[in-house]
Amino acid sequence: MLNKKIEDICNRQVEREGYSSNLYLAMASWAEVNGLSGVAGWMYSQSDEERIHMLKFIKYINERGGKAVMPSIKKPATDFKSVEEVFKEVLKHEEFITASINEIVALTLEEKDFNTHNFLLWFVMEQVEEEASVRIVLDKLRLVGKNSMYEFDRDIMGLRRPAVNAGTNP
Ligand code: FEO
Repeated sequence: MLNKKIEDICNRQVEREGYSSNLYLAMASWAEVNGLSGVAGWMYSQSDEERIHMLKFIKYINERGGKAVMPSIKKPATDFKSVEEVFKEVLKHEEFITASINEIVALTLEEKDFNTHNFLLWFVMEQVEEEASVRIVLDKLRLVGKNSMYEFDRDIMGLRRPAVNAGTNP
């Protein structure tokens, strides 16, 4: 049986995982309407994963004699400046989720709830992978930035207008 403190903090995580799913759905939709189907695909599948994380918490709370509470839907942003800004925001959010999971882990030790502690270990590892995968995308984006500038720089050489020689006849 879950004690009230653990039940409440697990329900807080239900809300946070649900919000994560919603946030990535908003990013997927933004990418889709901006013609970025690759980014949209990445975000849609990330959103599905977050829903599964939320379900894991819901089922765990109920299985252990608690009562899962369905969160209300908080509205995420609908517009983003750039793909890089989107992924930076994803990393920031995942770091927040990692801290949130770690807080629950700490509480389970304090409360000597070793079953919940064990349940959380999967999430601890999952957060390591999630943060790493976003950092890889951000590294790639930095390379894309440099390559585009390189190409742009070469491109503009061919666009140089011929110098106008003062004093020469047309
Ligand atoms: Fe469920 Fe990406 O944390």
